[in-house]
Amino acid sequence: MIKVAIIIGSTRPGRNGEAVARWVYDLAVKRDDAEFELVDLKDFDLPHLDEVMPAAMGRYSHPHTRAWAAKIASFDAYVFVTPEYNHSTSGALKNAIDFLYAEWNNKAAGFVSYGSNGGTRAVEHLRLVMGELQVADVRAQVALSLFTDFENFSVLNPSAQQEDAATAMLDQVVAWGQALCPLRK
Ligand SMILES: Cc1cc2nc3c(=O)[nH]c(=O)nc-3n(C[C@H](O)[C@H](O)[C@H](O)COP(=O)(O)O)c2cc1C
Repeated sequence: MIKVAIIIGSTRPGRNGEAVARWVYDLAVKRDDAEFELVDLKDFDLPHLDEVMPAAMGRYSHPHTRAWAAKIASFDAYVFVTPEYNHSTSGALKNAIDFLYAEWNNKAAGFVSYGSNGGTRAVEHLRLVMGELQVADVRAQVALSLFTDFENFSVLNPSAQQEDAATAMLDQVVAWGQALCPLRK
């Protein structure tokens, strides 16, 4: 069975990202076609990228890079839970992505975003990044509105159709994560 990481892409104190990721995780673990794990960027405490060699060389010199690489390498697919900051993803998530290369290659990914306009601009930027990392990003995505899927912009209360959107996204992530297995052997 493939393993899917649900990555919490914000580290801000009081972040909405944790509740969003837990909502996705609670839906995901009802499935029996993959294993799911929450991965919190906060737990890895990554500094701004401080490796001398580009990640594509795979020569990691710091324990924090090796710990992050080992965690990401252990998955077949990812769900990125991203806020929208200034029409893009968070600096913390982009930085964490930039630390690694081979660990992401030939994997699948889906997105759950949130923001005033559902965070869709953050996802569009992430899709460009995925291309460079050889990650197959699925079409179905979840875009949570701070106006209609949260109370007071801070308490997650997604509308019913968002659960359907999350299921569609997870269906595609699991399917593509499985389909790419031969490339990773
Ligand atoms: C620095 C910053 C920039 C933001 N820029 C945008 C933006 O461009 N578009 C948007 O819809 N929301 C924007 N927001 C609102 C965030 O999407 C919202 O606060 C969200 O909850 C942030 O995620 P977090 O709570 O997990 O940190 C911004 C918030 C911050 C802190």
